[in-house]
Amino acid sequence: MKRICVEYVVPGMKLAKSVKGLDGSELFSKDTVLTEKEKEVLIDAGIDYVYIEGSSEAEEKRLMEILAQEYVFKFFMYVNPDSKVFSELYKIVVALVINSLNKGWEPPCEEELRAKNVERMKDLFFKDMGSPQDIIKHELSLASFPDVYFKLKQVLKSPTSSAKEIADTVSADVALSTKLLKLVNSPLFALTQKVDSIERAVSLVGEEELSTLALGITAIRYFKDIPPELINMDVFWRHSLSCAVFAKLIASQLQGINQEMMFTAGLLHDVGKLILFKNMPYSSVEALIFARENMVPVVEAEECVLGFTHTTISNLIMKNWDFPPSLIDIVGHHHEPYDATNKKEAIVLQLADNMANAVAIASGGTFVIPGMEDEVFYELGLEIEKLKPIVLKHIKVLQDLVAAIL
Ligand SMILES: [Fe+2]
Ligand SMILES: [Fe+2]
Repeated sequence: MKRICVEYVVPGMKLAKSVKGLDGSELFSKDTVLTEKEKEVLIDAGIDYVYIEGSSEAEEKRLMEILAQEYVFKFFMYVNPDSKVFSELYKIVVALVINSLNKGWEPPCEEELRAKNVERMKDLFFKDMGSPQDIIKHELSLASFPDVYFKLKQVLKSPTSSAKEIADTVSADVALSTKLLKLVNSPLFALTQKVDSIERAVSLVGEEELSTLALGITAIRYFKDIPPELINMDVFWRHSLSCAVFAKLIASQLQGINQEMMFTAGLLHDVGKLILFKNMPYSSVEALIFARENMVPVVEAEECVLGFTHTTISNLIMKNWDFPPSLIDIVGHHHEPYDATNKKEAIVLQLADNMANAVAIASGGTFVIPGMEDEVFYELGLEIEKLKPIVLKHIKVLQDLVAAIL
């Protein structure tokens, strides 16, 4: 027996419990096999959920499959139906959703996906009143980026910098070094030996690489204090970390791409959204709803609702914080990788973002899939068959990393 939203009812499903109308009278008795007609009656009567069951184990299994397909399909409506990449992702996600359903997970209704406290939100800026520059100025006036990053940059710049100096700078920040050690010791890095000091981590991972990772982790901390009623920070950072893991795993399959840079790019890819949520929460949610209702990518919706996109905001703030130019370029182009100087890296990030959004469907965490062109994907030279093993590895490492880093 499974409780499902009426919108996911597919003809042929059988009621496991009778359904009562709002006045208490019985609308449909137990065992009624639902058709489109009954579904309409249920919707008209304002019924949210029904309990369904299969007549046999095989039938129950079939129902779960249909339910999973019906649920997942809605998220893929906006992507090109002929896309080979998204057909593969769709199949992977349906399998993940079936798995979640079997573990007792209930797919949220459309309404729940939308309930985001919209009515309580007040924007500090309004469309045509606050330019991206105004928003950044306001943001910068609130807090400065943690000092450890700038100190680290200075050490790196010096021609005489040693692994020990870098390690000392990082180690002075206990919270940061603990997280860094957990990160490099995770299976994602697949190091053959346990790393118990930052100095050792620097020598194994590399000076630039470790500093890049430190930057990503420091950024998470900077944004930790956003009020939870504005944006669910756990969901946000989970998505960012999920994207970071995908970005590193994809990069590890390709030649000549800095995996640590990609990891941090994944962590930071939607930082502009956070700043938008802090300053324009109402409009940000409006943009998400606009995207879903008009079947357009979020960036397009942002352009319509806000007049600019989260990538513009990311670019500006990262420049102000003096982040590495290649990182700014990659993050700033994760929705238009073709315009990036570091094109291949930006494509990796775009794919990672899509994959992170896709797998989150199986836990009810995604709103819309951003989408990407197959031709862009092919530029990577990555075989589509590689996507599934990457997803499986991702699932294996993500949970531990969430506990270690977030
Ligand atoms: Fe984005
Ligand atoms: Fe994203």
